[in-house]
Amino acid sequence: MHDRASGLPRSSTTSERGLTRTRTQVVIVGAGPAGLLLGQLLLRAGIDAVILERRSAEYVLGRIRAGVLEQGTVDVLHQAGVGARLSREGLVHEGVEIGFRGRRHRIALKELAGKSVMVYGQTEITRDLMDIRAAGNGKTVYQADEVALLDWQNASPRVSYRKDGVTHEIDCDFIAGCDGFHGVCRASVPSDRYQAFERIYPFGWLGLLADAPPPWNELIYANSERGFALASLRSPTRVRCYVQCSLEDRVDQWSDARFWEEFRQRIGEGAIGDLARAASIEKSIAPLRSFVVEPLRFGRLFLAGDAAHIVPPTGAKGLNLAVSDVFYLYEALRDHYRERDERPLDHYSTRCLRRIWKAERFSWWMTRQLHQFPGDAFSKRMQETELEYLFESRAAQTSMAENYVGLPL
Ligand code: APR
Ligand code: PHB
Repeated sequence: MHDRASGLPRSSTTSERGLTRTRTQVVIVGAGPAGLLLGQLLLRAGIDAVILERRSAEYVLGRIRAGVLEQGTVDVLHQAGVGARLSREGLVHEGVEIGFRGRRHRIALKELAGKSVMVYGQTEITRDLMDIRAAGNGKTVYQADEVALLDWQNASPRVSYRKDGVTHEIDCDFIAGCDGFHGVCRASVPSDRYQAFERIYPFGWLGLLADAPPPWNELIYANSERGFALASLRSPTRVRCYVQCSLEDRVDQWSDARFWEEFRQRIGEGAIGDLARAASIEKSIAPLRSFVVEPLRFGRLFLAGDAAHIVPPTGAKGLNLAVSDVFYLYEALRDHYRERDERPLDHYSTRCLRRIWKAERFSWWMTRQLHQFPGDAFSKRMQETELEYLFESRAAQTSMAENYVGLPL
């Protein structure tokens, strides 16, 4: 089958002087959850796409990230055909708890906002998406080096990369920048073409993963005088826990014993159970950042997921936002190819940003209320008062619940 635009055979290869040249409709840069999900939605719509990923599949699967899915995210994953294991193994949570001054306060998500969340690790979603892609005929190039965007400003973009010493060039209609915060796509756009908004927080999260049954039924977000702590889980036999730490801290300064002692003091004696004996499988420190770029579209290049925005993990919004961007981009590309309707592509950026900013606000608010900040006594009183108000007011709890379970897509 020949492609009308380029005259090149669609998805076939020409080779001249060690350079291969192919054509596809969409080049997706990055095989994180955003890139893989977009690839899967496009595949089901009959739209040809190639995914280029800098790392190996094993490396991508080794990254431990959050694991709380909004109902809207679950729905999109079902629509993409990757909902089966999620339905079997995901854990439905109807509430979360906030620890403060030695007490725990439950926010009844389901009762207040009418929806629950699903606990299912991002690594598992990535694995499900990789498996379904490997079983179908979507092309993914792992360990693609030197990915470069060419001519993305006009109607005939190209993407080049190197693999095993050979340079490859792909002609395409669109480029989807799903390559995360440090990727090449946003970096290829001159900085005077966009505005970036950023807040860097003066602390990090030290996370620990361990095989042990969680002694809590629902996630606990704790604001303690010693700093924030979060009790989370991945399954009925695996816990994921975090403590707020200094940005100067190194993982090797935190033995398991030190972690569990700090976690116990922050989360409270009642929640720790036998965890102090659980050996860590993974420990890592992540900085906290809020970041948004405006717009998300530059000619034929569309940014989605962490390439376009970062939220601090406190609201568990990172993956959910990546999924809504990708869903909007999929719909817009589908309408372009099926109906020749360009409007959804033109509205992509505005549509995403409306949702992104609300999730940014909520993640910033959760972060602000739950951590210890260096600062003045007034700010500390404001934080305490905000939490007291939350625990006393059903309206405030409803607002938190509505955002936590996710605003409509
Ligand atoms: N060329 C090819 N691939 C690249 C390049 C590059 N130059 N740079 C980065 N990548 C790849 C990364 O190796 C990574 O696998 O792009 C992928 C981006 O994946 P993620 O960082 O997981 O971003 P995204 O898919 O948008 O997922 C968002 O991840 O960080 C969390 O909180 C976030 O849960 C959210 C989710
Ligand atoms: C996690 O389980 O890793 C997790 C859960 C909720 C968050 C952040 C991380 O808000």
